[in-house]
Amino acid sequence: MTETTIFLADEPASVQSAESALLSGSEPLASSRLDAPAPRKVFLKTYGCQMNVYDSERMQDALARDGYEPVDSEAEADLVLLNTCHIREKAAEKVYSALGRLRDLKKKKAAEGKVMTIGVAGCVAQAEGGEILRRAPAVDLVIGPQTYHRLPEALARVKQGERVLQTDYALEDKFDHLPAPRPAVTRARGVTAFLTVQEGCDKFCTFCVVPYTRGSEVSRPLARIVSEAERLAAAGVRELTLLGQNVNAWHGLDESGVELGLGDLLRRLAEVPGIARLRYTTSHPRDMDDSLISAHRDLPALMPYLHLPIQSGSDRILKAMNRRHKAADYVALVARIRSVRADLALSGDFIVGFPGETEEDFQATLDLVTAVGYAQAFSFKYSTRPGTPGADLPDQVDEAVKAERLERLQALLLQQQQAFAQGCIGRTIDLLLEKPGRMPGQLIGRSPWLQSVNVDAKGAEIGDIVRVRITGAGPNSLFADMLD
Ligand code: SAH
Ligand code: SF4
Ligand code: F3S
Repeated sequence: MTETTIFLADEPASVQSAESALLSGSEPLASSRLDAPAPRKVFLKTYGCQMNVYDSERMQDALARDGYEPVDSEAEADLVLLNTCHIREKAAEKVYSALGRLRDLKKKKAAEGKVMTIGVAGCVAQAEGGEILRRAPAVDLVIGPQTYHRLPEALARVKQGERVLQTDYALEDKFDHLPAPRPAVTRARGVTAFLTVQEGCDKFCTFCVVPYTRGSEVSRPLARIVSEAERLAAAGVRELTLLGQNVNAWHGLDESGVELGLGDLLRRLAEVPGIARLRYTTSHPRDMDDSLISAHRDLPALMPYLHLPIQSGSDRILKAMNRRHKAADYVALVARIRSVRADLALSGDFIVGFPGETEEDFQATLDLVTAVGYAQAFSFKYSTRPGTPGADLPDQVDEAVKAERLERLQALLLQQQQAFAQGCIGRTIDLLLEKPGRMPGQLIGRSPWLQSVNVDAKGAEIGDIVRVRITGAGPNSLFADMLD
């Protein structure tokens, strides 16, 4: 179900929006003054997870202050920035093929007397920055996720003729130094918004590059998060999705120095005027504490949808993955959360073919999926990542075996997803209207369980939360009638 994807790894998601119109619209930029140079144009392409989507928006904001307008194609751009993902081999390879195409475009533009700057940001930049500069001479700038606030300064160095590699871990908090967009820009991005509250990971699952690409776990301070939420709400945002590689490891201090967790943060954000819905992703089972579980009981704004990856149903494999819990712990945890929020829909991530995975281990994954029941899930063939402990393990699983297991797992997950969608028919739910639908008069909204729902809007507007009855289910979305 691609439309309800909440994890976007490997799926390029352009973050271009209607901003260009707004940036050159009613509020004139410095660059539109007579004595200023023509605005420069940036094309920013985003790969990977929602944290990259969020980061790309913040980079757009930093560049807007420097006079850059976003454009929808590489061909129009003076600056092309790729915000990359390193999670699986395929994701990383995409960057090099994109860079091949960009090299040709840069040459073509040079022949016309135009300059095009190419920058690589994100997790591939962090992991393989030096190699990118060696393998791709057309690249002018490599910038890691921790130093985006220094992007304008790095571009200024590029202008002086330098090739810049900036992948250090900045001591200062990048988010404190990245400018906020103007309200019109926030509004154009929609009525739902991502808000990064935590970055990095200390868990070191043996298959995963994230602890190396994003560094160790850091939580943003409470006050900064609350003020960003207030700014978003004031611009018309109704739903916030709190982001973190381990979002439920978020911790902070309140005004009197009392230690808070994600449950407390959600309680605070539920009080921000205008914010009607809250979500968070991605959670680790070990960080689901009592306060967070009770937030699911106490907060009507907290949507009954939880992305809680387990990766495998086999204890032997979970141990080899360094997940540090057993399958039964996960099943018990899900039961506890469902006992306080009966309508909770679960989503998860699975890896098949981790080194040493036998047919019996894989069967345990299928059994777990059957026992838990998922409304949505993402499943992947294990991809060997150089530098992670998994890469050195014996008994790497044959690609054909991985492919066959993935097919069986996905068939089961699809069956569950369709059963969940069918089970929604006849239910009355609240829908947050997000964007125009295909037919005139139609709007598309999100259900509490993150499904896309088409409805004849009858005078309701984007940003409204309306009562609807689900009447049907298509392969990727639901249909509904509005109630009074
Ligand atoms: N922090 C999150 C996951 C971040 S990565 C968590 O712990 O759940 C997102 C997903 O990508 C993972 O849940 C995993 O299913 C998948 N993934 C990560 N590394 C992978 C690898 N080497 N091969 C295949 N899938 C991988
Ligand atoms: Fe990767 Fe594990 Fe950290 Fe998730 S918890 S980001 S899978 S190391
Ligand atoms: Fe990919 Fe980095 Fe996100 S590796 S999944 S973009 S944290």
